[in-house]
Amino acid sequence: MSHHDERTFVMVKPDGVQRGLVGEIIGRLEERGLKLAAAKFMQIDQDLAEQHYGEHEDKPFFDELVAFITSGPVMAMVWEGADATRQVRQMMGTTDPKEAQPGTIRGDLGLDLGQNVIHGSDHEDEGANEREIELFFDEDELVDYERADEPWVYEDA
Ligand code: RTP
Ligand code: MG
Repeated sequence: MSHHDERTFVMVKPDGVQRGLVGEIIGRLEERGLKLAAAKFMQIDQDLAEQHYGEHEDKPFFDELVAFITSGPVMAMVWEGADATRQVRQMMGTTDPKEAQPGTIRGDLGLDLGQNVIHGSDHEDEGANEREIELFFDEDELVDYERADEPWVYEDA
């Protein structure tokens, strides 16, 4: 594995899908040089939602969070690249879009804590990226290929 093979789980949430932001969000990740490794347009059921947000099960907003994430289709994806987990989190901006910097996805596209457009694995939670990928995808659904522009994104590709 080269240093630019880190994988992370990313999801356009139901609000992002309903607001027609799937293309915008994929475009930003693509243009950055990150590589799409898997994608699934799907509706999350109660069980998967509770597993995905299991770390928040004791929080007062848990039921609301599960209701929201199951309220419509999502675009679940795996993106790959150097430091991908942390880089995607930086591109997303802080959890509350009202506090997120302009230029970030949440800072440009959202205004409400509960409807913040995108999910990305937490880089401060060791192994969260691989756990979430496994929860949403079978290993054979991840596509291994080289993007034609990789030598122009990474000096050592
Ligand atoms: P996410 O997991 O959805 O990518 O968001 P995140 O890491 O930035 O934030 P996290 O702490 O994991 O919280 C998960 C989602 O719960 C909602 N939330 N509501 N009412 C509240 O105080 C509260 N705090 C968090 C947010 O929609 C957040 O994305
Ligand atoms: Mg989180």
